[in-house]
Amino acid sequence: MSSLLVTGGAGFIGCNFVRHVLDHTDHTVTVLDALTYAGNEASLAGLPANRFRLVVGSVCDPSTVDELVADHDITVHFAAESHNDNSLNDPSPFIQTNLVGTFELLQAVRKHDKRYHHISTDEVYGDLELDDPAKFTENTPYNPSSPYSSTKAGSDLLVRAWVRSFGVRATISNCSNNYGPYQHVEKFIPRQITNVIDGIRPKLYGAGLNVRDWIHVDDHNAAVLRIIDDGKLGETYLIGADGEENNKSVIELILELMGQPSDAYDHVNDRPGHDLRYAIDATRLRTELGWEPRFPDFRSGLADTIDWYRANEAWWRPMKAATEAKYAKTGQ
Ligand code: NAD
Ligand code: TYD
Repeated sequence: MSSLLVTGGAGFIGCNFVRHVLDHTDHTVTVLDALTYAGNEASLAGLPANRFRLVVGSVCDPSTVDELVADHDITVHFAAESHNDNSLNDPSPFIQTNLVGTFELLQAVRKHDKRYHHISTDEVYGDLELDDPAKFTENTPYNPSSPYSSTKAGSDLLVRAWVRSFGVRATISNCSNNYGPYQHVEKFIPRQITNVIDGIRPKLYGAGLNVRDWIHVDDHNAAVLRIIDDGKLGETYLIGADGEENNKSVIELILELMGQPSDAYDHVNDRPGHDLRYAIDATRLRTELGWEPRFPDFRSGLADTIDWYRANEAWWRPMKAATEAKYAKTGQ
């Protein structure tokens, strides 16, 4: 049994991770979360008080971070500003949370000699051409495109430097696009599902040929646990489940699964600098750590996700109008 400090545990992937850990291990969990617009205490409702607690605070606050890191065996760092579109409108919080926040955590795990796992994204590698058969591997050079992905890339490089220079016991994982319950309605899939529920036509950026490599959030989190348990210190693992789909086909599938005509969507302004394609080669994770996705069928995973948003309107309703108002300003 270990004590885990999970930063960003009130966000999409973090809250699913906390539930996964409490269900599949006997670890205890403390969440450190600033409850920004993206964090939601309701995502952590009903968790057992004897194994779970929430501390509201920022990863940029050195004294909070120092105290909590010292008190736990392992720190798992999910907290981030996570949305590309927001980073194009105002990069400043991305610099603070993604770079300065990671720095503060690294200083604390170094000081207290604690195990650290760093959650990152495949977007640090930039993008691939649509007709390129290649996928990202652990050896792909970093080439981020947006303020979001460049601050995530910078945070990964800080971890690598703290491993090499100070012997910090860390691992890094870079995962592809996640989908599943508790994802903020600003993100592509929940935005379209909740649009259809609200009678709003889904919004496709540009021609919609951009490809994302979708993975169910539980598959991501199971991989993170495998890496925490058996990953080699100092190493990076890519996480992906061979789920490449273009955005147009995802919108058409959502419409079909929700009983609407498959062309009932709008093309809206494209994202500046929009990455074309992401694709992960997860061979290392599969062969070295024996991980396999348990939800490789995107169609049924998406159907379950639609059911979750239909059943949990009380969770997403409070954020929907403000999110759409933000998009309206950029014509998206
Ligand atoms: P999210 O935006 O849903 O959640 C982020 C959480 O971090 C929120 O609860 C927010 O309140 C918290 N937070 C923000 N700033 C903070 C601060 N200064 N101090 C403490 N907490 C703070 O994000 P997500 O989609 O769950 O992503 C989690 C992590 O996974 C991020 O590091 C992201 O880069 C990475 N990732 C995401 C995806 C994806 O598809 N969503 C894919 C690969 C990697
Ligand atoms: P998003 O969920 O923002 O994830 P990321 O930018 O990290 O890949 O977007 C996924 C894809 O969907 C991306 O190519 C942008 C596109 N997109 C739309 O077409 N319409 C939308 O309303 C949103 C939010 C995204």
